[in-house]
Amino acid sequence: MDIDAIRREALTCTKCRLAEGRTQVVWADGNLQSDVCVIGEAPGFNEDKEGVPFVGAAGQLLDRLLAEIDLDRSQAAIVNVIKCRPPGNRDPQPDEIAACRPYLSAQLNYMRPLVIVTLGNFATKFILETTAGITRARGQVYERKGASIVPTFHPAAALRGGRFGGISTIDAMRGDFATVRRLLDAPAVPAEPEHAPARRAGDEDGAEQLDLFP
Ligand code: URA
Repeated sequence: MDIDAIRREALTCTKCRLAEGRTQVVWADGNLQSDVCVIGEAPGFNEDKEGVPFVGAAGQLLDRLLAEIDLDRSQAAIVNVIKCRPPGNRDPQPDEIAACRPYLSAQLNYMRPLVIVTLGNFATKFILETTAGITRARGQVYERKGASIVPTFHPAAALRGGRFGGISTIDAMRGDFATVRRLLDAPAVPAEPEHAPARRAGDEDGAEQLDLFP
């Protein structure tokens, strides 16, 4: 897959109304060849200005949570469900998510991450293909298409200072990030013969790679 060509296409995308109000498309940060993909919702004011996801206050908290499990942005990819800022930071609309879907799918198909962390409702619903919100979905690890999915709250929710199940939202997130660390440290389970081993982004044997994420 030519992920650079897809990125170039995304950077000039006009498939939905968000193209009109954006400063720039926010494609990704971090390392698309790493084992971990962290998925947020949409760029905000700062991300739209800088062209990098999670650079504002929520991003600083995300960096802290990653650092607590010994990860930095060179060891994880940081992306969003939609790549352009919605006006006034409103929720992404279903047609905007649909228009942007091929870009996140391409990123995930290219990466084939071992672990996907979904931050908040929009990313969790996208990846788990569920209508259940984050409060119901979190607290367990889901297996989807060769990846372990860890749903957690959006850092913006933690910044608002809420509580969940008797602990602060940020401590709940710390528990979820500790789960990510455990998954990364766990020895890989050998693939069953009928299940081809997941191919990694760097594999270049010329064979056709099936897309896992539609
Ligand atoms: N919130 C998100 O969901 N994504 C960003 O990039 C920034 C804030």
